Amino acid sequence: MIECKNIRKTYVNGDVETQAVSDVSFHIDKGEFVAIIGPSGSGKSTLMHILGALDTPTSGTYFLDGQEVSTLDDDELSDLRRNKIGFVFQSFNLLPRTTVLRNVMLPLLYSDTTEKEREEKARKSLEYAGMEEGKFLNLSNQLSGGQMQRVAIARSLINDPAIILADEPTGNLDTKTSAVVMETFRELNRKGHTIILITHEMEVAQFADRVITIRDGVIEKDVKNTH
Ligand SMILES: Nc1ncnc2c1ncn2[C@@H]1O[C@H](COP(=O)(O)OP(=O)(O)OP(=O)(O)O)[C@@H](O)[C@H]1O
Ligand SMILES: [Mg+2]
Repeated sequence: MIECKNIRKTYVNGDVETQAVSDVSFHIDKGEFVAIIGPSGSGKSTLMHILGALDTPTSGTYFLDGQEVSTLDDDELSDLRRNKIGFVFQSFNLLPRTTVLRNVMLPLLYSDTTEKEREEKARKSLEYAGMEEGKFLNLSNQLSGGQMQRVAIARSLINDPAIILADEPTGNLDTKTSAVVMETFRELNRKGHTIILITHEMEVAQFADRVITIRDGVIEKDVKNTH
């Protein structure tokens, strides 16, 4: 499903060149649950942006479902992101003073759907992500961290994406809440979604079936977890 070959990403700022990702190759099958772990600055987010078609590599090739992503134009890229990928971020990125339901409906705002259809999909998505119905009309800033993250997960699921990319989804959560959110990801994985999750904590990575360790922009280890 995902095939990276010799991916490199170099950032140039004036005279300073940063090799954020150097010569990374791997593949991820449909239905896998993979954690990418590594210290700060090791290139995790850079790689995630490439996998999510939010950024392009400086060199190397990236195939998603057999399609070479670098050959797509902007419209094709945004279609691909909308149809295949759900993003979850560390900081949740929810609109404050906006209800849970509206936050989840947001990605569908410019799609060809009625308000009623959008609300229906958002409700399903929230249930799917394990959010209690009694909170659907709460404002998003009236929730606990774990609940906010479940709303962000529900929003990422609104288009039923095959792949969920999560960048430090438990970074702002305490240990207990992290475990609850990670169980939500495990459940989504059981339902068939491919999950790629970035973390710098080994306890979080243990929830995945496979752990790729990245250091200084290169893959240091790629191992299967036994649960
Ligand atoms: N837009 C940019 N311009 C220049 N350098 C960048 C840019 N984005 C990232 N970098 C550099 O690339 C390297 C990798 O950054 P990246 O954000 O991928 O790390 P990370 O593993 O996600 O770290 P963290 O755990 O702190 O989020 C770092 O040295 C960073 O400073
Ligand atoms: Mg990062």
